[in-house]
Amino acid sequence: MDHFVYQGDQLCAEEVPLRTIAERFGTPCYVYSRATLTRHWQAFDDAFGSRPHLICFAVKANSNLAVLNLLARLGAGFDIVSVGELERVLAAGGRPDKVIFSGVGKRADEIRRALEIGIRCFNVESESELARINAIALETGAVAPISIRVNPDVDAQSHPYISTGLKENKFGIDIQAAEAVYRHAAELPGLRVVGIDCHIGSQLTSLGPFIDALDRVLLLADRLAEQGIPIKHLDLGGGLGIRYTDEKPPLPDAYAAALCERLGARSVEVILEPGRAIAGNAGVLLTRVEYLKPTPTHRFAIVDAAMNDLLRPALYGAEQEIVPVQRPRADLSAKHSIADPGDPQSEQRVEPIVDPTADLPVDLIVDPTAELYEVVGPVCETGDFLGRARRLALAEGDLLAIRGSGAYGFSMSSNYNSRPRAAEVMVDGDQAHLVRRRESLPELFAGEQVLP
Ligand code: LLP
Repeated sequence: MDHFVYQGDQLCAEEVPLRTIAERFGTPCYVYSRATLTRHWQAFDDAFGSRPHLICFAVKANSNLAVLNLLARLGAGFDIVSVGELERVLAAGGRPDKVIFSGVGKRADEIRRALEIGIRCFNVESESELARINAIALETGAVAPISIRVNPDVDAQSHPYISTGLKENKFGIDIQAAEAVYRHAAELPGLRVVGIDCHIGSQLTSLGPFIDALDRVLLLADRLAEQGIPIKHLDLGGGLGIRYTDEKPPLPDAYAAALCERLGARSVEVILEPGRAIAGNAGVLLTRVEYLKPTPTHRFAIVDAAMNDLLRPALYGAEQEIVPVQRPRADLSAKHSIADPGDPQSEQRVEPIVDPTADLPVDLIVDPTAELYEVVGPVCETGDFLGRARRLALAEGDLLAIRGSGAYGFSMSSNYNSRPRAAEVMVDGDQAHLVRRRESLPELFAGEQVLP
């Protein structure tokens, strides 16, 4: 559940109409909901009850300081993959001892900084990395807490670009070889073995692959224990999917229940690294229709957001719902009310006519003036689309919200086509706070210089 719902004919973030955010901060603009982020993080944290656990938000999903600070205040840990993400976490008030460092290519300076501030654990992805961390730890007089990220050879059944747990992927150490690597790690004086780590992919919509991976990890933990290498925590990565269109992923409590059932009476601490499931549906990308352009084959709606702002549709063919900020007029007519069962005001507002479209996403409601649109951005690439064949009733100047944009939205954005990066706004009840101002034109080339 998220807090982006229509109140009257206006789509709101919590209590704030998106239209007023567009007027105040301009478009394109990312809008996050504090209540939704809080609710999603809490769902993970509550799901494990009294079992020792740490929910480490995957910073790559959304690295805005206000988002990280909000989660830090709730008690979150953080999963980072670069020193840049580490500095963000520290600047946002995150605790170093709740930071997990993942990623296949940790540089020496990154390892040094993480050791200096005392992070919780390095998730090691290769034997070379193990040797490097050991050497740096010895050089600096530290002992590095480590897990080995194992590759369990499990098919996440997700998009190939975001599946990571198959033998042929670059991630982790083959689970069959991991036992010997652990034995080696346990003998290195700069290292302290604390856990096992595994992340098999992102946007998983069923529990099976998670459970398969956990079973393989548990077998390894048992074998290590027999050899006198006790494992304190199991880090099962991120990956729980969300509903973008019609997916039905398990909720965090079902996911946690399935993991806990498998873990039984083991006293091991569980670490998770969710990103998308916390932030994805806690954000929308607000954009305005610049032009409607009918061609002999298509109707294009050219909006002011583009692939540089939201890359997922162009890169993965990802589908995210695109809904009008002002509810289609046809739905307010006597014939079609769209009384929202979740909207306490809607019953007073409209006649109690049973609406056959009430459960449909707004962009599927048949409006007599709706047409099929290719929703595209201004970037000079044919692949610059945000939504294909979307049924919408549009006029130039209309505002649209692209849902599910709170994760891997702004964090994957770029300046391609010399487009300043969008503003980011966080709504908290009836207040909207600018949490990152829109980039200015001089900032685009502020770090550049011409030859003497
Ligand atoms: N832990 C590790 C080691 C990861 O590599 C990732 C994501 C996560 C945790 C968080 O996964 P999540 O809970 O968000 O699924 N840009 C792609 C997603 C890439 C995910 C990369 N790794 C997208 O927009 O779909």
